[in-house]
Amino acid sequence: MTDLERRGDRSPVPAGWTYAPAPESTEIVSLQERYGLFVGGEWLEGAEHYTTISPRDEAPLAEVAQAGEADVHHAVAVAREAFSTWSALAPSERAKYLFRIARILAERSREFAVLESLNGGKPIKESRDVDLPLAAAHFFYYAGWADKLEYAFPNQDPRPIGVAGQIIPWNFPLLMLAWKIAPALAAGNTVVLKPAETTPLTALLFCDVLRQAELPPGTVNIVTGDGRTGAALVDADIDKVAFTGSTEVGKAIQRRLAGTGKRVTLELGGKAANIVFDDCALDQAVEGIVNGIYFNQGHVCCAGSRLFVQESIYEPVVEKLKRRMATLRVGDPLDKNTDVGAINSRMQLDRITELVEAGQAEGAEIYQPPCRLPERGYWFAPTVFTNVAQSYRIAQEEIFGPVLSVLTFRTPDEAVEKANNTPYGLSAGIWTEKGSRILWMAERLRAGVVWANTFNRFDPTSPFGGYKESGFGREGGRHGLEPYLSFS
Ligand code: NAI
Ligand code: MG
Repeated sequence: MTDLERRGDRSPVPAGWTYAPAPESTEIVSLQERYGLFVGGEWLEGAEHYTTISPRDEAPLAEVAQAGEADVHHAVAVAREAFSTWSALAPSERAKYLFRIARILAERSREFAVLESLNGGKPIKESRDVDLPLAAAHFFYYAGWADKLEYAFPNQDPRPIGVAGQIIPWNFPLLMLAWKIAPALAAGNTVVLKPAETTPLTALLFCDVLRQAELPPGTVNIVTGDGRTGAALVDADIDKVAFTGSTEVGKAIQRRLAGTGKRVTLELGGKAANIVFDDCALDQAVEGIVNGIYFNQGHVCCAGSRLFVQESIYEPVVEKLKRRMATLRVGDPLDKNTDVGAINSRMQLDRITELVEAGQAEGAEIYQPPCRLPERGYWFAPTVFTNVAQSYRIAQEEIFGPVLSVLTFRTPDEAVEKANNTPYGLSAGIWTEKGSRILWMAERLRAGVVWANTFNRFDPTSPFGGYKESGFGREGGRHGLEPYLSFS
């Protein structure tokens, strides 16, 4: 009798493994009742305020200022004044501040991770293991460039451009702040940044880091508020706009800026193709599919939201995927076991719901694993659609939620044609054992980032950005410095 036979069907892994709650304490975060605007290294009282909540239970967290036009113009004037000092600093001195910010972020990462999950709804596992390490790494990386700009761009006399107006979204609040601020400062510019209205708190906590790092006052200014504040910043006396958000607002900004001479980079929406060939490592691909669309509740501009499966392996892929989806734990973002957290806002939940209903009405087949969603707060179960036609809204529009559409293809040519059949072009994924096929595909996919046998992998050294309606300009890497420099 072999060991396995002796054990019979008493599998060594308990089948119905239940997880005990593993909540991360929120004690490490101390919130103020009300936040003002961070301008010139000081807190200014806002005239109007709104309440920012936690999407996990709709509990109010703090009052946050809604900056008006005058506030924005004041912040820009302060940044303009600070520019003369900051840009004149020895580059190696600028680097020291950036290194300091990076170190403080790393030291205070637990505090930031908890606050990020609390205000935005993403699982603590992700804010702790992805957002925070990457945000710190971004500052470390660009700190290294600060005194090497002339080597990065030899014989081009790179110079800072002035004041950057930066507008960021709510899906990676602190990480997007890092993507914006780190290269701007390394290149010698000053900044006015506006966080998204639903997730201002880590940006406001970051002001504390700036003070701790003794960054010269006015070098970085943070103004909170909604789209009106963003629009005021675009119109203010700035030299460059860096925007990450919806394609709709990106287009409006570009129209607004046409003819003004202000520079602009736009990082907009996406509808990425994740392409699975029949020679791939199947289980690895299924993990990549799950990571591609359910990471951060699918609130990811480069999410692999269109899955293209080669016809010959369609059935096993869908079956394995459904089985894997059933093991995803949806719930409290502050629980360390949670895989899929809360949807960021009521508005986003409504948008996801609308598009999912459209998918059903158009004839796609929906699957959601059984999972109990909390009663309060904003939730959406991991969802996969099969029987999807290219023309369906769920195959065309960015859903920005945990919703995957599965389509099929037969040949590499067909995969390329279908993958490129979208107004977007931010990212794509390829799963195959053949290196030559990876290169052949990558050359033909109209996407800024192409991942091979992995997905949603980020690194500060690697440029990121779009084709077509996904925007233009690159963030990350040496490329990420260019938008913040002028050359002779
Ligand atoms: P949004 O584009 O309205 O918001 C992004 C940022 O832009 C926020 O800070 C917002 O306050 C600001 N903003 C809004 N209107 C503005 C204006 N007229 N001028 C200047 N700044 C303005 O995105 P929203 O409404 O939060 O989400 C709508 C959809 O956009 C989502 O369902 C998703 O599909 C997409 N989206 C894509 C993102 C990406 O990373 N590609 C990020 C956020 C949203
Ligand atoms: Mg909007």
